[in-house]
Formats: sequence, C-alpha cells, structure tokens
Amino acid sequence: MEKRNELYSGKAKSVYTTDDPNRLVLHFRDDTSAFDGKKKEALNRKGAVNNQFNAFIMEKLEAAGIATHFDKMLSTQESLVKCLKMIPVECVVRNIAAGSICRRLGVQEGITLEQPVFEFFLKNDELGDPMINDYHIAAFGWAESVHVERMKKLTLAVNDVLKPLFLSAGLLLVDYKLEFGLYEGELVLGDEFTPDGCRLWDAETRAKLDKDRFRQGLGSVVEAYEEVGQRLGITFNY
Ligand code: C5P
Repeated sequence: MEKRNELYSGKAKSVYTTDDPNRLVLHFRDDTSAFDGKKKEALNRKGAVNNQFNAFIMEKLEAAGIATHFDKMLSTQESLVKCLKMIPVECVVRNIAAGSICRRLGVQEGITLEQPVFEFFLKNDELGDPMINDYHIAAFGWAESVHVERMKKLTLAVNDVLKPLFLSAGLLLVDYKLEFGLYEGELVLGDEFTPDGCRLWDAETRAKLDKDRFRQGLGSVVEAYEEVGQRLGITFNY
C-alpha cells in the first residue's frame, strides 16, 4: 500500500488517498480544536494517543460484530481505513446529561438519564452543527430511511459494548458522537472514537478525562487521554 495525496484536512485529522481506490490513510495530528474551530492548539503526543486509542476501540467494536472502516494501524499517528461514502450527520448518544443538552433543555450537568438519549446533528461547521431529526434527513435526502434506522441501532449497540468496557476501567461513558458511511452499500462506522469525541468521567470523582479539559481550559488534556488509555490496558508508542 502506497500513501499518495492529501484528500482532505480536517480540524484534527488529515486524510490521504492510497494506490488502492478503496483505502485511505487517516493521519491523527496533534491539533486540537473546539467551538467549531474558534479555539485551537497543538498538543504534544495527542495525534499518537488518539490514533492508538481509536485502533483499540475500533477493534473492540469489530470483535462485538459492529462493522467499522478500520483496517490496521500503519504507524504511531496513522491508520489504514476503508474509503466510505460519508453520511453528513453526527449520531450522539448520551447516558448522563452534559454539554449541549444542558444548555438546550436547562437540565443540570451530571443527571443520569433514565434511558440513553439518541440525537442527530447536521455536520455543518458554518451552521454550528444544528440538531436535526429523521424528518429533516428524509426531506433533504441526507440518508435513506433504512440507513437512518440502522445508524440509531448501531450507535446504541456501541453503547452496549463501550459503556461496560469503560466502567470496568473505572470510567463513566457520559456521551459520544459517531459518524457513519457506506462501503459497498453497507452502513459502516467511520471517523474515530477517541476522547476528542466522547465524554469520560472518573466513576468515583467524576473528574473529566476527555476534550472538555481542553474546552474548559482545565489543562493536562493529553495526560487525561493517556490515563484513560492506560486504565483500558493500552500501551502507547510515540
Ligand atoms: O456538544 P454536545 O454535548 O452536543 O456533544 C455531545 C458529544 O458529542 C460529546 O462527547 C462531544 O465531544 C461529541 N461531539 C463531537 N463533535 C461534534 C459535536 C459533539 O465529537 N462536532
């Protein structure tokens, strides 16, 4: 496999084509951003930590029967993935109230939800990723209804795999965001699963060990990600 041209550079990852039209290289950079790119900083080791964290989680999900785009790690900061036709929506599941749901509904951070809450958001930085529902997705043709139902089912299935996994490491999976795409007509989990796109709290102290440390200026961002990884049994290479 040969890495070729940069196809796209996002806020924290760059995507490269390869000599295989069905494969892409994801390069996890140290760049960190929040508030739709308004706050930015390069954090030493974050690219390597997120690449290896993502590989660990994607392998756990594959082992549980959830199809992902992940093929293999290529280096400390790069992974080989399947080339998906991405669906432009973000799928969020929440177990505990935090972040935007608290602002939208005026509920207190930290309330344990009676059941997981599923939400769709449109992937659009200029609009600040507005919340949408199944009707918007169907009306604007962003995804087929069969894929809408499957995204909900798979996002909740990820909760059933990861909530107990994190709890066994003394961590609460507060919420997370997933993105899906199509590969040979099948819905497949794409993008990443790292502490950049989920909330993880220490189960005892409720200390924040995710990107809220960056958003809220709490410091020790990468150190927190490393602690989460180490508790899961990941040994990071730099
Ligand atoms: O901001 P909000 O509370 O809606 O975020 C819910 C979850 O989705 C959080 O874990 C957050 O990190 C993640 N998220 C993300 N990318 C976005 C929006 C939210 O990873 N663009």
